[in-house]
Amino acid sequence: MPKHQLVIMANRLPLKRSGRGAGGWERSPGGLVTALDPVLRKRGGLWIGWDGSPGRPGRSMEHEGLKIKPVGLVTKDVEHFYHGFCNRTLWPLFHDAIRPAEFNASWWESYKEVNDRFARAAARHVAKRRSVWVHDFHLMLVPQMLRALRPDLRIGYFLHIPFPPEEIFARVPWRAELVHGLLGADVVGFQTWKDAQNFSRAARHLADAEGTDARLTFHGHKVRVNSFPISIDAGEMERLAQTAAVQRRAREIKARLGGRRMFLGVDRLDYTKGIESRLVAFEQLLESDRLSAERCVLVQVAVPSRETVPEYAQTRTRIEQIVGRINGEFSHPGSVAVHYFRRNLGREELAAWYLAADVMLVTPLCDGMNLVAKEYVSTRFDGGGALVLSEFAGASHELRQAVLVNPYDLEGMATSMQRALALPKAEQRFRMSILRMIVKRHDVEEWSGNFLGALEES
Ligand code: ADP
Ligand code: G6P
Repeated sequence: MPKHQLVIMANRLPLKRSGRGAGGWERSPGGLVTALDPVLRKRGGLWIGWDGSPGRPGRSMEHEGLKIKPVGLVTKDVEHFYHGFCNRTLWPLFHDAIRPAEFNASWWESYKEVNDRFARAAARHVAKRRSVWVHDFHLMLVPQMLRALRPDLRIGYFLHIPFPPEEIFARVPWRAELVHGLLGADVVGFQTWKDAQNFSRAARHLADAEGTDARLTFHGHKVRVNSFPISIDAGEMERLAQTAAVQRRAREIKARLGGRRMFLGVDRLDYTKGIESRLVAFEQLLESDRLSAERCVLVQVAVPSRETVPEYAQTRTRIEQIVGRINGEFSHPGSVAVHYFRRNLGREELAAWYLAADVMLVTPLCDGMNLVAKEYVSTRFDGGGALVLSEFAGASHELRQAVLVNPYDLEGMATSMQRALALPKAEQRFRMSILRMIVKRHDVEEWSGNFLGALEES
């Protein structure tokens, strides 16, 4: 393989192995892939990552213009590194400790080993004095490891999830090592300035770095720290929504729901997403006769995620119980109160659902950004629809014209859902036009340009 000018590294490749169609590959779930896929397609370069199945790595390959270099995770790595340290230690800890984080020394050993494997793969494939862009919580040690192997490189790191306040982060027994790992980068980027500040404080207090929140020095190496709110390919999403096929499908969806007003949720099935809270808030609206299933429906589309991790299996069970309870109590013949689909939708189908929804419910308890909110407003070229958005999603810093809610306040959320459905037409269109303008202006192209620009300057 030739040496590359830009190398992107993330635990996930944009595609994962599947038993079904398309030559055994399907799109990987999650916001990281949604954002990075158009960036690398436009700029060219190499994506290093895992194909989602345990075993030896596949060969380097090219898929629809994307150059891909798989890194292998054997079964033990999947258990200890991915399910263990990534999804049972870092993920809950970095999401407000909503679920207790577990600390296990074997998982930590595996995390170090896998990070080392990724660093070596990058060291082999990037051209002299070029850039490597490392992504997310799976690879926090890579920047320092890669700098030791290839001091000629520019190294950027971006964290897609929140960085916790120091008092939560300090619980990790290996906190100093994690911070040292990130301090190997030239630029460390976060979704919000609060995340950036949390990191810089941790770096000063737990790892002996010196400097301000925006500029740190560690063992003579200068590190720039900033926020770079991630986004989507807004133009592409809008074009998709404007196709005749998507509009036809949106009309069909509305007709199938009997013309009822629709609340929609679209998420990875994750306990951070607040799916249970929004269902219970909807239940309260039905219970108190503020809404009826004959006039309204809630559709929840949830893509299966990390299913072998116990907290995810429990969340799924709880969601399915609540859906069953609501439907048992409030559905009528021909008007089911909640439609629940546990599946990964194609991009066209997703755009059609967005276009058909009267109110989009994005109600995470804690979320780095949340791209579903940005996708929804980008599809609404018709000016219709309303967005209910959690204050605890990074996106709420930008999308101030959404109906903002606290997902822990169920009654408040129920009232806001009802209000969003009943917004006067003029107000609803005004809010949507501003939301659309914000996402269009600050799209993924701008995000990657800002980050790579900062890396270039460093
Ligand atoms: P996260 O990265 O935590 O999953 P985001 O909201 O940032 O959260 O990104 C989720 C991405 O996954 C979005 O691009 C969204 O379209 C996609 N997605 C979520 N649920 C589904 C689903 N059921 N089917 C297809 N894509 C989905
Ligand atoms: C979030 C994380 C990504 C991750 C995605 C899907 O977006 O920030 O790094 O890829 O969830 O999760 P998974 O565990 O399936 O890769």
